[in-house]
Amino acid sequence: MPVSIGVLREAAEGETRVALTPTVVTTLVRDGHTVTVEKGAGHRAGFPDDEYAAAGATLAPREATLGAQVVVSVGPPDAVATKALKPGQALVGLVDGLKKDGVHVLSLDRLPRQISRAQTMDALSSQASISGYRAAIVAAERYGRYFPMMVTAAGTAKPATVLVLGAGVAGLQAIATARRLGARVTGYDVRPAAREEVTSLGAAFLATSVDAVGEGGYARELTPEESARQREELAKAIAGFDVVITTAKVPGRKPPELVDAATVAAMRRGSVIVDLAAGPLGGNVAGTRPDAVVTTANGVTLIGAGEIARDMAPAASDAYARNVAAVIAAIVKDGELTIDSDDEVISKMLVTP
Ligand code: NAI
Repeated sequence: MPVSIGVLREAAEGETRVALTPTVVTTLVRDGHTVTVEKGAGHRAGFPDDEYAAAGATLAPREATLGAQVVVSVGPPDAVATKALKPGQALVGLVDGLKKDGVHVLSLDRLPRQISRAQTMDALSSQASISGYRAAIVAAERYGRYFPMMVTAAGTAKPATVLVLGAGVAGLQAIATARRLGARVTGYDVRPAAREEVTSLGAAFLATSVDAVGEGGYARELTPEESARQREELAKAIAGFDVVITTAKVPGRKPPELVDAATVAAMRRGSVIVDLAAGPLGGNVAGTRPDAVVTTANGVTLIGAGEIARDMAPAASDAYARNVAAVIAAIVKDGELTIDSDDEVISKMLVTP
């Protein structure tokens, strides 16, 4: 018995991604599943309905999609769609916080990423990687000078200096991309283990006196005293950089402010800051606004880019769809939807069992 899978058109305004792509649908159909795609679901990601049909999916209105055994989305479905879900169905997506009695809500935000068999399902990493790459490209595009050193008959241009604050998945990708573009790159993190990862990419490491490793090797929240010390030490370095990319997100909490208004004011005219933590709860940089570009009085461009993976919807959806397919493979046993709450990876993802 195959499992039925429903792909929702995303509810959030500004969301461009889609949870399954035609390529991944082809694989799921080949494995015996039936896939129903809400009409227009892939449109903003660059996947028209006819490509899903050619991949073996049925295109249908929302109600039919919501009747599938496994419903998949990127972000949380809207209230009407959530209400329509019935006990026994599974919902897979970045849907942390969404609770529905009897529905197996599996949130990719909660995936235990350190477990190796969870890595194919790791949507936070796949999307962070895209964000980091894109942040470096956007910074280069906005910066009014060269990233690489340029030797021309008219003289030599110095390479841009780029500082990346937070060297996790997004930060390391931003470092690698800025390096490929020829900039002189420095990385920083509160986790001492990040030093080796940063330097192995050919970047310099900026050290401060604050170390903050918490549970599972992740950064812990800094105390107010540590946070003030960190800002002060970083401020001295930041004024010397042309481009700053910040990536320190703390899931579900207000992001730490790493760059305050005085530090922004001390930067050179023409400098660019890309804040990958900028969202409704705030950002890493004073003055950044979600999805907006702001130029300060001293000519610094602040880019609020918490959702920047949406700028690359085709690539982001490709990667996300593979993550979702890996989750589906883990919850279907012998053709039956089987939510094994003894399975460590599955049980950690369950918001409601
Ligand atoms: P994240 O998106 O939660 O944070 C980004 C970076 O900001 C992290 O490197 C974090 O250490 C840093 N950060 C947090 N607070 C900070 C502060 N106050 N000042 C400066 N930096 C701060 O992190 P992400 O990228 O999701 O993952 C971080 C960690 O998880 C890394 O150690 C990474 O290697 C690990 N990880 C392991 C995986 C695995 O074992 N398969 C998969 C994904 C991540």
